[in-house]
Amino acid sequence: MSASAEPLRVAVLASGRGSNLQALIDAAGSGRLPITITGVISDRPASGALARARAHGIGALAIDPTVHAGRAGFDAALVRLLQGVQPQLIVCAGFMRIIGADVLQPFFGRMINIHPSLLPAYPGLRTHARALADGVRMHGASLHFVTPELDAGPVFACARVPVLAGDSPEALAARVLEREHPLLVAGVGLIAERRIVLAAGGVEFDGRPLPAALALGSDDALHPARAP
Ligand code: GRF
Repeated sequence: MSASAEPLRVAVLASGRGSNLQALIDAAGSGRLPITITGVISDRPASGALARARAHGIGALAIDPTVHAGRAGFDAALVRLLQGVQPQLIVCAGFMRIIGADVLQPFFGRMINIHPSLLPAYPGLRTHARALADGVRMHGASLHFVTPELDAGPVFACARVPVLAGDSPEALAARVLEREHPLLVAGVGLIAERRIVLAAGGVEFDGRPLPAALALGSDDALHPARAP
């Protein structure tokens, strides 16, 4: 990004402890990531994510599903909150609600999700336990653009994490989470620099179609996937 470019305005949707949010806050705060987090929105008023936002002076907005009339009411309220913080990018970081088509439509191509598996393997929940039950050797995390189908939008980056002998779901989840943080920072960085874009024909990287998800290296940067 050129020095004169404005930081990207980012909203974060999160339901839980917010460690991925914290990785973005820390990277932006130390000047490693050219973004401004304009708001954090959670469906859980007591979430750690909202507490982290408040601690850093970031707008923290709760949207309680129990007080909105059904899914349509919740979705309409969520869109209003998102529009209020004027995001150029929305990051779903542990947001435990399905993004309805009405929420997605105004922000299509500007919403990404971090998911704890190597998509398309293991969409949905309990990814680590399912990977262990299948005996896979490689697990990890993915960044993808959000589409109306759950965890099925185009993947543009991933972090691979080997499964170790004797792994429990918790141990594996902890090692994956460690790599989620640099993955999210690097992926959001490429979007902030306009190097990753969702175009009509799919994801483009540096103006060319991206043939395969970029892979997080040990240097915490994203690199083109190696040919098999
Ligand atoms: C992460 O594993 C993320 O991939 C998943 O939910 C978890 C959120 O963790 N979608 P945190 O709230 O960011 O700590």
